[in-house]
Amino acid sequence: MRKKILFIASECVPFVKTGGLADVVGSLPGYFDGEKYEVRVIVPNYICISSEWKEKMNFVTSFYMDMAWRSQYVGILEMEYNGIRYYFIDNEYYFAGDKPYGYIHEDVEKFAFFSKAALSILPVVNYKPDIVHCHDWQTGLVPVYLKDSFRKGGFYANMKSIMTIHNLKFQGCWNIPAIQDATGLDMSYFTSDKLEAFGDANYLKGGIVYADYVTTVSRTYAEEIKSPFYGEHLDGLMRAREGSLCGIVNGLDYQEWNPETDSMIFKNFTVDTFRKDKVKNKTALQKELGLEVDRKKMLIGIVSRLTDQKGFDLIDCVMDELCQDEVQIVVLGTGEDRYENMFRHYAWKYNGKVAACICYSNELSHKIYAACDAFLMPSQFEPCGLSQLMSLRYGALPIVRETGGLKDTVEPYNEYEESGTGFSFTNYNAHEMLSAVRYAQAVYYDRKRSWNQMIERAMKVDFSWKNSAGQYEEVYRKLSPFEGE
Ligand code: ADP
Ligand code: GLC
Repeated sequence: MRKKILFIASECVPFVKTGGLADVVGSLPGYFDGEKYEVRVIVPNYICISSEWKEKMNFVTSFYMDMAWRSQYVGILEMEYNGIRYYFIDNEYYFAGDKPYGYIHEDVEKFAFFSKAALSILPVVNYKPDIVHCHDWQTGLVPVYLKDSFRKGGFYANMKSIMTIHNLKFQGCWNIPAIQDATGLDMSYFTSDKLEAFGDANYLKGGIVYADYVTTVSRTYAEEIKSPFYGEHLDGLMRAREGSLCGIVNGLDYQEWNPETDSMIFKNFTVDTFRKDKVKNKTALQKELGLEVDRKKMLIGIVSRLTDQKGFDLIDCVMDELCQDEVQIVVLGTGEDRYENMFRHYAWKYNGKVAACICYSNELSHKIYAACDAFLMPSQFEPCGLSQLMSLRYGALPIVRETGGLKDTVEPYNEYEESGTGFSFTNYNAHEMLSAVRYAQAVYYDRKRSWNQMIERAMKVDFSWKNSAGQYEEVYRKLSPFEGE
């Protein structure tokens, strides 16, 4: 009999995305061995999901669910997409607004509702998973509820849970009285060995404490979060759980991210044709964005949420110096005002040399990966990172800080052995970053052959989901062995 796996998450490609979490939840389920595993996915039916998708959803049923002293409407919609069954939890009060997340005090109530509703619909849709696989703080209460009220019913008795940490920085914290009121959990849950942390209630902590197994999205990050620098005040808990914690690096959806077939880019190319064709993407993008059209000039790309995590203060510190070099820089991102304005400023100051696209555009992101010679990602911390995987695949050589998944996926160039797929630096220091960028420039301008060989290696490394899905299957088997295992 096939094992039943249930993903519960707050975002999922192609329906709704704010970051890499959506890419993972939207692509990983399709890569499990279909003879052994059946995977279904539950996400909220946000009002902001586009009508293109809403039209394809089918209404299943609705009911009212007790939530502390409230009684809340739970609608269930479903859709089959690329062979995977998706359920959308409907509630217009909680899932209103033009984006999935808003104020934290509202979000904690929203995702308490979502977590409980996700478990509550299972008997209704007649799906009894062997493993409930939760993602990030928004679903941290699922393992808690599973061991609390839901345990009493036989239906949930043997379900195991996994908590995958995509970003330990976001934990879903709010004051205990409000959370107690929102979740209906008994006060005994709000102690330091359970949900309480530093005086508040903490959803992710609850998930980590109560899940049967914990994973995160790269091996290096799994180690890093056991230390105070990366542990976001939960390093003690991570050390306590290290026996059931592992890091599994993310993969990419190689169908969507394929320069050979990508319909969003100007000119398709492969590992055999990039020498001639990749540059056509560069000149077309230069034209589109008002950069000086020059096929020779090194074009460096950034596609990112504009937050502290991604190391933009380093860029700010040396941007004037960098702009004296023979480079062009294109940025696509949205986020903190501080960084949006910073890039707008540099685009104005270095008109024709720096382009700042302060918006969210999937299509433009594809064009940038395809057009750029290098891709800059100097993160302070990076649980995995998908952007550098996309740039590898499109032959934009990553320049990264050696942390988390960046360290695990980008092999630094070694000029003596002619090995590597990008450039890296160790310390969170602006001039160390600048040196790495200048080293990349030196190779780009003076050793074209080595540069092109590196693109060839980068485009050939395999970060499809095949490997990583296999590692998740091992975790599943550990928790829920097949008969005879
Ligand atoms: P994180 O999840 O921390 O934001 P990742 O590197 O894992 O970082 O994933 C980021 C994803 O979001 C990538 O698919 C990247 O291309 C995409 N992305 C980020 N910002 C934008 C944007 N402004 N427009 C389009 N795609 C974006
Ligand atoms: C988080 C992390 C990012 C990771 C993504 C998907 O948003 O910041 O590093 O790639 O989740 O796991």
